[in-house]
Amino acid sequence: MEKKNMDWANIGFAYQKTDKRFVSNYKNGAWDEGVLTEDDTVTISECACVLQYAQTCFEGLKAYTTEKGQTVIFRPDLNAARMKDTCERLEMPVYPVEKFVEAVVQTVKANMAYVPPFGSGATLYIRPFMFGSNAVIGVKPADEYQFRVFTTPVGPYFKGGAKPITIRVCDYDRAAPRGTGHIKAGLNYAMSLYPIMDAHRNGFDENMYLDAATRTKVEETGGANFIFITKDNKLVTPKSDSILPSITRRSLVYVAENYLDMEVEHREVYFDELKDFAECGLCGTAAVISPVGKVNDHGREICFPSGMEDMGPVTKKLYDTLTGIQMGRIEAPEGWIKVIE
Ligand code: PLP
Ligand code: COI
Repeated sequence: MEKKNMDWANIGFAYQKTDKRFVSNYKNGAWDEGVLTEDDTVTISECACVLQYAQTCFEGLKAYTTEKGQTVIFRPDLNAARMKDTCERLEMPVYPVEKFVEAVVQTVKANMAYVPPFGSGATLYIRPFMFGSNAVIGVKPADEYQFRVFTTPVGPYFKGGAKPITIRVCDYDRAAPRGTGHIKAGLNYAMSLYPIMDAHRNGFDENMYLDAATRTKVEETGGANFIFITKDNKLVTPKSDSILPSITRRSLVYVAENYLDMEVEHREVYFDELKDFAECGLCGTAAVISPVGKVNDHGREICFPSGMEDMGPVTKKLYDTLTGIQMGRIEAPEGWIKVIE
Protein backbone atom coordinates (compact mmCIF):
# COMPACT_ATOMS: atom_id res chain seq x y z
CA MET A 1 0.00 0.00 0.00
CA GLU A 2 1.47 3.29 -1.14
CA LYS A 3 1.28 5.94 1.61
CA LYS A 4 0.13 9.48 0.85
CA ASN A 5 2.95 11.90 0.37
CA MET A 6 2.58 14.07 3.48
CA ASP A 7 4.87 15.96 5.80
CA TRP A 8 3.95 13.51 8.56
CA ALA A 9 6.23 15.07 11.18
CA ASN A 10 4.44 18.43 10.95
CA ILE A 11 0.76 17.68 10.45
CA GLY A 12 -0.38 18.82 13.92
CA PHE A 13 -3.74 17.85 15.42
CA ALA A 14 -6.12 19.00 12.68
CA TYR A 15 -8.87 17.47 10.54
CA GLN A 16 -7.89 16.27 7.10
CA LYS A 17 -10.43 14.55 4.94
CA THR A 18 -9.51 10.97 4.08
CA ASP A 19 -11.00 8.76 1.36
CA LYS A 20 -13.81 6.81 3.04
CA ARG A 21 -15.97 6.83 6.13
CA PHE A 22 -18.47 4.32 7.58
CA VAL A 23 -22.14 5.31 7.87
CA SER A 24 -24.99 3.36 9.44
CA ASN A 25 -28.54 4.61 10.00
CA TYR A 26 -30.99 3.70 12.76
CA LYS A 27 -34.66 3.74 11.80
CA ASN A 28 -37.77 1.90 13.01
CA GLY A 29 -35.85 0.50 15.95
CA ALA A 30 -32.96 -1.12 14.03
CA TRP A 31 -29.50 -0.32 12.62
CA ASP A 32 -28.95 -0.96 8.93
CA GLU A 33 -25.88 -2.84 7.69
CA GLY A 34 -23.86 0.33 7.13
CA VAL A 35 -21.67 1.27 4.17
CA LEU A 36 -18.35 2.88 3.39
CA THR A 37 -18.85 6.10 1.48
CA GLU A 38 -16.78 8.89 -0.02
CA ASP A 39 -19.41 11.44 1.02
CA ASP A 40 -18.08 13.43 3.96
CA THR A 41 -21.23 15.56 4.31
CA VAL A 42 -24.36 15.03 6.40
CA THR A 43 -27.81 16.33 5.40
CA ILE A 44 -30.42 16.43 8.16
CA SER A 45 -33.53 18.35 9.18
CA GLU A 46 -33.01 21.83 10.61
CA CYS A 47 -34.89 20.53 13.63
CA ALA A 48 -32.76 17.39 14.14
CA CYS A 49 -32.35 16.51 17.82
CA VAL A 50 -28.57 16.91 17.53
CA LEU A 51 -28.95 20.49 16.30
CA GLN A 52 -31.59 21.55 18.83
CA TYR A 53 -30.76 19.55 21.94
CA ALA A 54 -27.16 18.37 21.36
CA GLN A 55 -28.01 14.67 21.29
CA THR A 56 -24.60 13.52 20.13
CA CYS A 57 -21.66 11.54 21.44
CA PHE A 58 -18.30 10.37 20.19
CA GLU A 59 -15.22 8.24 20.74
CA GLY A 60 -11.56 8.60 19.85
CA LEU A 61 -8.92 5.97 19.19
CA LYS A 62 -5.87 5.55 16.97
CA ALA A 63 -4.31 3.28 14.37
CA TYR A 64 -0.54 2.86 14.42
CA THR A 65 2.05 1.43 12.06
CA THR A 66 4.28 -0.91 14.05
CA GLU A 67 8.02 -1.38 13.72
CA LYS A 68 7.34 -4.51 11.65
CA GLY A 69 5.02 -2.58 9.30
CA GLN A 70 1.68 -3.92 10.57
CA THR A 71 -1.29 -1.58 11.04
CA VAL A 72 -2.84 -1.99 14.48
CA ILE A 73 -5.53 -0.38 16.62
CA PHE A 74 -5.42 -0.10 20.39
CA ARG A 75 -8.17 -1.58 22.59
CA PRO A 76 -11.15 -0.69 20.31
CA ASP A 77 -13.44 -2.89 22.41
CA LEU A 78 -13.06 -0.46 25.31
CA ASN A 79 -14.14 2.46 23.11
CA ALA A 80 -17.14 0.43 21.98
CA ALA A 81 -18.07 -0.36 25.59
CA ARG A 82 -17.69 3.28 26.64
CA MET A 83 -19.86 4.44 23.74
CA LYS A 84 -22.49 1.94 24.90
CA ASP A 85 -22.46 3.52 28.37
CA THR A 86 -22.66 6.99 26.82
CA CYS A 87 -25.59 6.06 24.57
CA GLU A 88 -27.53 4.58 27.47
CA ARG A 89 -27.14 7.82 29.45
CA LEU A 90 -28.23 9.95 26.46
CA GLU A 91 -31.25 7.81 25.47
CA MET A 92 -29.53 6.86 22.22
CA PRO A 93 -29.59 3.37 20.69
CA VAL A 94 -26.43 1.34 21.36
CA TYR A 95 -24.32 0.48 18.34
CA PRO A 96 -23.40 -3.15 19.10
CA VAL A 97 -19.85 -3.59 20.45
CA GLU A 98 -18.73 -6.13 17.83
CA LYS A 99 -20.18 -4.10 14.98
CA PHE A 100 -18.46 -0.99 16.34
CA VAL A 101 -15.08 -2.73 16.22
CA GLU A 102 -15.82 -4.07 12.73
CA ALA A 103 -16.82 -0.58 11.49
CA VAL A 104 -13.57 0.87 12.87
CA VAL A 105 -11.55 -1.90 11.18
CA GLN A 106 -13.33 -1.38 7.85
CA THR A 107 -12.80 2.39 7.97
CA VAL A 108 -9.08 2.05 8.74
CA LYS A 109 -8.70 -0.54 5.95
CA ALA A 110 -10.33 1.86 3.50
CA ASN A 111 -7.87 4.62 4.47
CA MET A 112 -4.61 2.66 4.81
CA ALA A 113 -2.75 5.21 2.68
CA TYR A 114 -3.31 7.73 5.48
CA VAL A 115 -1.96 5.62 8.34
CA PRO A 116 1.30 7.45 9.08
CA PRO A 117 4.49 5.39 8.72
CA PHE A 118 6.34 3.98 11.75
CA GLY A 119 8.61 6.51 13.39
CA SER A 120 6.95 9.54 11.77
CA GLY A 121 5.53 10.81 15.06
CA ALA A 122 2.02 10.82 13.56
CA THR A 123 -0.88 8.35 13.88
CA LEU A 124 -4.31 7.88 12.33
CA TYR A 125 -6.97 9.27 14.63
CA ILE A 126 -10.30 7.42 14.41
CA ARG A 127 -13.50 9.23 15.34
CA PRO A 128 -16.66 7.11 15.78
CA PHE A 129 -19.70 9.26 16.60
CA MET A 130 -23.48 9.20 16.72
CA PHE A 131 -26.26 11.78 16.62
CA GLY A 132 -30.05 12.06 16.74
CA SER A 133 -30.97 12.86 13.14
CA ASN A 134 -34.74 13.33 12.86
CA ALA A 135 -36.78 16.42 13.76
CA VAL A 136 -37.98 16.80 17.36
CA ILE A 137 -39.31 20.04 18.75
CA GLY A 138 -40.47 18.95 22.20
CA VAL A 139 -37.54 17.97 24.41
CA LYS A 140 -37.30 14.23 23.81
CA PRO A 141 -34.86 11.81 22.23
CA ALA A 142 -34.79 11.35 18.44
CA ASP A 143 -36.28 8.23 16.82
CA GLU A 144 -33.64 8.12 14.08
CA TYR A 145 -29.86 8.18 14.44
CA GLN A 146 -26.72 8.07 12.38
CA PHE A 147 -23.50 6.32 13.47
CA ARG A 148 -20.37 7.30 11.54
CA VAL A 149 -16.66 6.60 11.72
CA PHE A 150 -14.09 8.81 10.01
CA THR A 151 -10.33 8.90 10.21
CA THR A 152 -7.79 11.71 10.01
CA PRO A 153 -4.00 11.61 10.32
CA VAL A 154 -2.75 13.58 13.34
CA GLY A 155 0.41 14.71 15.08
CA PRO A 156 0.80 15.81 18.71
CA TYR A 157 -2.27 17.31 20.44
CA PHE A 158 -0.19 20.02 22.11
CA LYS A 159 2.24 22.05 20.03
CA GLY A 160 5.76 21.12 21.05
CA GLY A 161 4.94 17.43 21.55
CA ALA A 162 6.71 16.23 24.66
CA LYS A 163 7.59 19.69 26.03
CA PRO A 164 5.93 20.33 29.41
CA ILE A 165 2.85 22.56 29.29
CA THR A 166 1.43 25.13 31.70
CA ILE A 167 -2.16 24.78 32.86
CA ARG A 168 -4.37 26.90 35.05
CA VAL A 169 -6.96 26.13 37.68
CA CYS A 170 -10.28 26.83 35.98
CA ASP A 171 -13.02 28.88 37.65
CA TYR A 172 -15.69 27.12 35.57
CA ASP A 173 -16.84 23.59 36.31
CA ARG A 174 -16.65 20.79 33.76
CA ALA A 175 -19.17 18.37 35.21
CA ALA A 176 -21.74 18.27 37.97
CA PRO A 177 -21.93 15.49 40.53
CA ARG A 178 -24.44 12.99 39.09
CA GLY A 179 -24.16 14.80 35.73
CA THR A 180 -22.58 13.66 32.46
CA GLY A 181 -18.86 14.03 33.14
CA HIS A 182 -18.28 10.26 33.01
CA ILE A 183 -19.58 9.87 29.45
CA LYS A 184 -18.32 11.15 26.11
CA ALA A 185 -21.22 13.46 25.27
CA GLY A 186 -20.70 16.34 22.84
CA LEU A 187 -22.31 18.67 25.39
CA ASN A 188 -19.32 18.22 27.74
CA TYR A 189 -17.09 19.69 25.06
CA ALA A 190 -19.45 22.49 24.02
CA MET A 191 -19.38 23.86 27.57
CA SER A 192 -15.55 23.68 27.61
CA LEU A 193 -15.07 25.93 24.57
CA TYR A 194 -15.31 29.21 26.44
CA PRO A 195 -12.99 28.10 29.29
CA ILE A 196 -10.35 26.71 26.88
CA MET A 197 -10.34 29.85 24.72
CA ASP A 198 -10.17 31.95 27.87
CA ALA A 199 -7.21 29.84 29.08
CA HIS A 200 -5.43 30.36 25.73
CA ARG A 201 -6.16 34.10 25.78
CA ASN A 202 -4.45 34.21 29.15
CA GLY A 203 -1.41 32.24 28.01
CA PHE A 204 -2.26 28.78 29.37
CA ASP A 205 -2.31 25.52 27.43
CA GLU A 206 -5.19 23.83 29.27
CA ASN A 207 -7.61 24.01 32.19
CA MET A 208 -7.44 21.96 35.35
CA TYR A 209 -11.05 21.38 36.42
CA LEU A 210 -11.82 20.84 40.10
CA ASP A 211 -14.78 18.93 41.54
CA ALA A 212 -17.88 21.10 41.27
CA ALA A 213 -19.26 20.28 44.72
CA THR A 214 -16.30 21.28 46.90
CA ARG A 215 -13.68 22.66 44.48
CA THR A 216 -11.00 20.99 46.60
CA LYS A 217 -10.29 17.93 44.43
CA VAL A 218 -8.58 17.53 41.06
CA GLU A 219 -10.80 16.17 38.30
CA GLU A 220 -9.40 16.34 34.75
CA THR A 221 -8.84 18.68 31.83
CA GLY A 222 -11.22 19.25 28.91
CA GLY A 223 -9.76 16.30 26.99
CA ALA A 224 -7.52 14.18 29.22
CA ASN A 225 -7.19 12.57 32.66
CA PHE A 226 -4.37 13.45 35.09
CA ILE A 227 -1.53 11.26 36.24
CA PHE A 228 0.75 12.23 39.12
CA ILE A 229 4.02 10.71 40.26
CA THR A 230 4.92 10.92 43.95
CA LYS A 231 8.45 11.61 45.16
CA ASP A 232 8.74 7.89 45.98
CA ASN A 233 7.69 6.91 42.42
CA LYS A 234 4.07 5.90 42.94
CA LEU A 235 1.52 6.56 40.21
CA VAL A 236 -1.52 8.45 41.54
CA THR A 237 -4.65 8.95 39.42
CA PRO A 238 -7.73 10.94 40.48
CA LYS A 239 -10.88 8.98 41.21
CA SER A 240 -14.26 10.64 40.66
CA ASP A 241 -17.66 9.73 39.29
CA SER A 242 -17.64 12.82 37.11
CA ILE A 243 -14.48 12.25 35.04
CA LEU A 244 -14.23 10.28 31.81
CA PRO A 245 -12.83 6.77 32.38
CA SER A 246 -9.81 7.23 30.11
CA ILE A 247 -8.66 4.11 28.31
CA THR A 248 -5.12 5.51 28.25
CA ARG A 249 -5.20 6.03 32.02
CA ARG A 250 -6.53 2.53 32.67
CA SER A 251 -3.82 1.15 30.38
CA LEU A 252 -1.11 3.16 32.16
CA VAL A 253 -2.25 1.82 35.52
CA TYR A 254 -1.81 -1.72 34.17
CA VAL A 255 1.57 -0.87 32.63
CA ALA A 256 2.78 0.71 35.88
CA GLU A 257 1.80 -2.29 37.97
CA ASN A 258 2.70 -5.09 35.58
CA TYR A 259 5.57 -3.80 33.45
CA LEU A 260 7.27 -1.25 35.70
CA ASP A 261 6.59 -2.79 39.11
CA MET A 262 5.21 0.49 40.43
CA GLU A 263 2.67 1.05 43.15
CA VAL A 264 -0.54 2.68 41.98
CA GLU A 265 -3.13 4.66 43.89
CA HIS A 266 -6.46 5.42 42.22
CA ARG A 267 -8.08 7.75 44.73
CA GLU A 268 -9.41 11.23 45.35
CA VAL A 269 -6.62 13.75 44.85
CA TYR A 270 -6.85 17.02 46.78
CA PHE A 271 -5.64 20.17 45.07
CA ASP A 272 -3.56 20.93 48.20
CA GLU A 273 -1.50 17.79 47.54
CA LEU A 274 -0.24 19.05 44.17
CA LYS A 275 2.82 20.74 45.64
CA ASP A 276 4.00 17.36 46.97
CA PHE A 277 4.08 15.51 43.63
CA ALA A 278 7.28 15.08 41.62
CA GLU A 279 5.69 14.84 38.16
CA CYS A 280 2.37 15.49 36.49
CA GLY A 281 0.98 14.59 33.10
CA LEU A 282 -2.20 14.57 31.01
CA CYS A 283 -3.14 11.27 29.45
CA GLY A 284 -5.55 10.42 26.67
CA THR A 285 -5.73 9.11 23.13
CA ALA A 286 -5.04 12.54 21.64
CA ALA A 287 -2.70 13.71 24.41
CA VAL A 288 -0.87 10.31 24.77
CA ILE A 289 1.03 11.60 27.84
CA SER A 290 1.66 15.33 27.80
CA PRO A 291 3.85 16.42 30.72
CA VAL A 292 2.65 19.32 32.86
CA GLY A 293 5.44 21.58 34.12
CA LYS A 294 3.36 23.93 36.22
CA VAL A 295 -0.13 24.70 37.41
CA ASN A 296 -1.20 28.32 37.86
CA ASP A 297 -3.72 28.87 40.65
CA HIS A 298 -4.86 32.48 40.23
CA GLY A 299 -1.30 33.75 39.99
CA ARG A 300 0.26 31.30 42.45
CA GLU A 301 2.47 28.82 40.59
CA ILE A 302 2.86 25.21 41.56
CA CYS A 303 6.00 24.03 39.76
CA PHE A 304 6.71 20.32 39.52
CA PRO A 305 10.35 19.35 40.21
CA SER A 306 10.52 17.74 36.73
CA GLY A 307 10.64 21.30 35.32
CA MET A 308 9.70 22.93 32.03
CA GLU A 309 12.31 21.37 29.75
CA ASP A 310 11.65 17.63 29.70
CA MET A 311 9.15 14.99 30.62
CA GLY A 312 9.89 13.70 34.14
CA PRO A 313 11.82 10.38 34.29
CA VAL A 314 8.95 8.24 35.56
CA THR A 315 6.43 9.78 33.16
CA LYS A 316 8.96 9.06 30.38
CA LYS A 317 9.16 5.39 31.40
CA LEU A 318 5.36 5.14 31.33
CA TYR A 319 5.27 6.93 27.97
CA ASP A 320 7.97 4.72 26.43
CA THR A 321 6.31 1.53 27.65
CA LEU A 322 2.80 2.47 26.52
CA THR A 323 3.90 3.72 23.09
CA GLY A 324 6.24 0.69 22.84
CA ILE A 325 3.19 -1.55 23.25
CA GLN A 326 1.16 0.49 20.75
CA MET A 327 3.98 0.52 18.17
CA GLY A 328 4.79 -3.19 18.60
CA ARG A 329 8.23 -2.75 20.21
CA ILE A 330 7.05 -4.25 23.50
CA GLU A 331 4.81 -7.29 23.85
CA ALA A 332 1.22 -6.24 24.58
CA PRO A 333 -1.08 -7.77 27.18
CA GLU A 334 -3.56 -10.23 25.71
CA GLY A 335 -6.32 -8.54 23.71
CA TRP A 336 -4.88 -5.00 23.66
CA ILE A 337 -3.81 -4.89 20.02
CA LYS A 338 -6.03 -5.57 17.01
CA VAL A 339 -4.07 -6.16 13.84
CA ILE A 340 -5.72 -4.90 10.66
CA GLU A 341 -5.22 -7.77 8.21
N1 PLP B 1 -11.02 12.90 29.51
C1 PLP B 1 -11.69 13.55 28.54
C2 PLP B 1 -12.63 14.61 28.95
C3 PLP B 1 -11.50 13.19 27.19
O1 PLP B 1 -12.16 13.84 26.22
C4 PLP B 1 -10.59 12.17 26.87
C5 PLP B 1 -10.39 11.75 25.49
O2 PLP B 1 -10.94 10.80 25.03
C6 PLP B 1 -9.91 11.53 27.91
C7 PLP B 1 -10.14 11.92 29.21
C8 PLP B 1 -8.95 10.43 27.63
O3 PLP B 1 -9.61 9.24 27.35
P1 PLP B 1 -8.95 8.12 26.45
O4 PLP B 1 -7.66 7.78 27.10
O5 PLP B 1 -9.91 7.01 26.49
O6 PLP B 1 -8.75 8.73 25.10
C1 COI C 1 -9.34 11.89 22.53
O1 COI C 1 -8.29 11.90 23.18
O2 COI C 1 -9.62 11.01 21.73
C2 COI C 1 -10.31 12.93 22.67
O3 COI C 1 -11.42 12.72 22.33
C3 COI C 1 -9.92 14.22 23.20
C4 COI C 1 -10.40 15.33 22.34
C5 COI C 1 -10.37 16.52 23.18
C6 COI C 1 -9.60 15.45 21.08
